Amino acid sequence: SDPGLVERARAAKAALGERLFVLGHHYQRDEVIQFADVTGDSFKLARDAAGRPAAEFIVFCGVHFMAESADILTSPTQRVILPDLAAGCSMADMARLRQVEDAWDAMADAGIQDSVVPVTYMNSSADIKAFCGRNGGVVCTSSNADVALEWAQEQRPGAKILFLPDQHLGRNTAVLKMGMSLEDCVVWDPQQPGGGLSAEELQDARMILWKGHCSVHGRFSADVVDELRIKHPGINILVHPECTHEVVLKADLVGSTEFIIKTIEAAEPGTVWAIGTELNLVQRLKDAHPDKTIVFLDRNVCYCSTMNRIDLPHLVWALENLVAGTVVNQITVDPETEADALLALQRMLDLPG
Ligand code: 13P
Ligand code: SF4
Repeated sequence: SDPGLVERARAAKAALGERLFVLGHHYQRDEVIQFADVTGDSFKLARDAAGRPAAEFIVFCGVHFMAESADILTSPTQRVILPDLAAGCSMADMARLRQVEDAWDAMADAGIQDSVVPVTYMNSSADIKAFCGRNGGVVCTSSNADVALEWAQEQRPGAKILFLPDQHLGRNTAVLKMGMSLEDCVVWDPQQPGGGLSAEELQDARMILWKGHCSVHGRFSADVVDELRIKHPGINILVHPECTHEVVLKADLVGSTEFIIKTIEAAEPGTVWAIGTELNLVQRLKDAHPDKTIVFLDRNVCYCSTMNRIDLPHLVWALENLVAGTVVNQITVDPETEADALLALQRMLDLPG
C-alpha cells in the first residue's frame, strides 16, 4: 500500500489515541486490516464494539449492517463511522422490512403466525433486526446459528422458524445441526405473490427460509470440490455456511470465518486445504501459513466487492477528519428501531456458549 497513506493513517491513529477504536472484519483488505485494533467475524466484532465504552469513535472497517449493529450496541455518546457509505451487503438488501411484514401477514392468514419465531442473520438491516426483536425473535451469526435455532425452538412447543435473509445458512444449520430434513424447509420468495407458497406448505414447514443468499459464497461449486479431490488426494475442504447446501455437503468442515482461521492455525504442517470463503481472508491465511498448502475453492478471483470498498484512502480520510474535529460517515439507527433491534441482539449475546 502507498507508504504516504500508511504514514498518515499511523499519525492520525496516534493523534486520536484512546478516543479511537478500529474494528476490522476478516474480509477487509490487508492495507486496512493492519490498522485494526481488533479483527474478527461478525459475532466477535459485535461483542467487541459493545465492550469498548471508553472509545469516543468506533471506526468500523466492514459493511453497513455491522456498523449499524455497533451503533445499536454502543452507548449514545459513542459515534460509529463507516469509512465508505457504499460498503453495503447485497444479502442484507435482499430482505426489506415491507416484504418481511407482508410475509408475516401471510403467516397470520395461514393461521401459523403465533407459532413462528423469526431469526435473522446478523447480515440484515437494523429494521429487520428490530422486526425480530418486537416479534419475540433473535439475531444469529454464522458462529451461533445452531444455538439460536435451538433457542427459537424452545420458545414454544412446535415452534416454526422464519429464517432471514440467508437461505443457505438457514438450510445448512437446520439440516446439518438440528436434525431437520430438506422437506421440513420451504423457501419464501419475496418476488412472488404469497412468497410462492400455499397456506398448506407454510403449515407443514418447520423452517421457512427467506430467499436470500451471499453473492460471494454462492459462487463456490460442488464440481470444483470434486476436481480438487482428484488433483490433491487427502485435501481438506473447509467452507463457510453461506455456501450452498450442495457444497457444504461435500466439504469436510464448515464454520464461520473465525472457525476457519482457528482450524488452519491448528492444522498440521504439510496438510492441504481448499477454503471456500472470501478471498482477502484466504490470501492472508495462505501468507501466514507457508508450511501448509492452501488453495482457494474457486477457479476465479472472488472478493466481496462491498467489503473491498473500505480501502486505505477512505480510512485515512475518515481518520484525518476525526483529527480535525469533523465526524464523517457516521452511522446512526433511529431510537425506536434501535430499541427493538437491541432486544434481538441482546438475546443473541445472552445465548449459551
Ligand atoms: P461471519 O463474519 O459471521 O463469518 O460472516 C461472514 C460474512 O459474510 C460477513 O459479511
Ligand atoms: Fe454480504 Fe456476502 Fe459480502 Fe458478507 S461476503 S458482506 S454476506 S455480500
